[in-house]
Amino acid sequence: MSRRGLVAGNWKMNGLTGAADTLVGGILKGLEQRKGKNICEVLVCPPFTAIQAVGKKIAGSAVKLGGQNMSEHKPGAHTGEITGQMLTDIGCTYVILGHSERRSMYGEDSQLVARKMVAAYRDGLTPIVCIGETLQERESGKTLDVIRDQVSAIFPNLPADEAKRQQLVLAYEPVWAIGTGKTATPEQAQEVHAFIRKMLVDQLGNDTASKVRILYGGSVKPDNAAVIFSKPDVDGGLIGGAALKAEDFLGIIDGFQG
Ligand code: PGA
Repeated sequence: MSRRGLVAGNWKMNGLTGAADTLVGGILKGLEQRKGKNICEVLVCPPFTAIQAVGKKIAGSAVKLGGQNMSEHKPGAHTGEITGQMLTDIGCTYVILGHSERRSMYGEDSQLVARKMVAAYRDGLTPIVCIGETLQERESGKTLDVIRDQVSAIFPNLPADEAKRQQLVLAYEPVWAIGTGKTATPEQAQEVHAFIRKMLVDQLGNDTASKVRILYGGSVKPDNAAVIFSKPDVDGGLIGGAALKAEDFLGIIDGFQG
């Protein structure tokens, strides 16, 4: 299996420019100390207002830059929105789409997320599409049904281009594990990741399915990262709270090395 691990920091609505600078400075320093080690791909997704400053700071490093959301529309009269092109313009190569906070607080459904994915590809970004069940859905035995619905929505909207399909990143984030300190067990994560992988195989064929990365997100910390990342279909993590402390984020990156 030739999937490169990816650890992505989702800073959410945190960080004025000064704090963002300090945080990314700490990450860069830690990565410098790990130079020569075979570490995973590292991505930071600051709030929009800090992206440019963070981008300048990471210039020349291996750290990648991403947005946390974008509009599905082309440029025009959409007050308060931004296009994918605006993200690429300031150095982003990734964008997180359909995070559960966007789905639950801002009414984003799987169809909208699929349209945003189309726009992200069009604008030259790699989409990280988030999926995951609520506690109620898990407790009523509906986890895999919810995942099936959320993942199915993106298939008709994937580009025909094979290389672009292989770039796709999915992030399984059980809603009940986000910011709660409750992590899915490695077995729970692997069960869902394997289910998603099987869907990818059925829809896109073995070759593409074996290249698509599936991240786990939800209360990943330095002390639980390694065991979650050790599962065969877990290709890295989408990190919220622990991405706001350089030391913790670096500890999670170390977890990828097993
Ligand atoms: P958490 O958030 O690591 O704070 O649980 C993960 C996420 O929402 O992406």
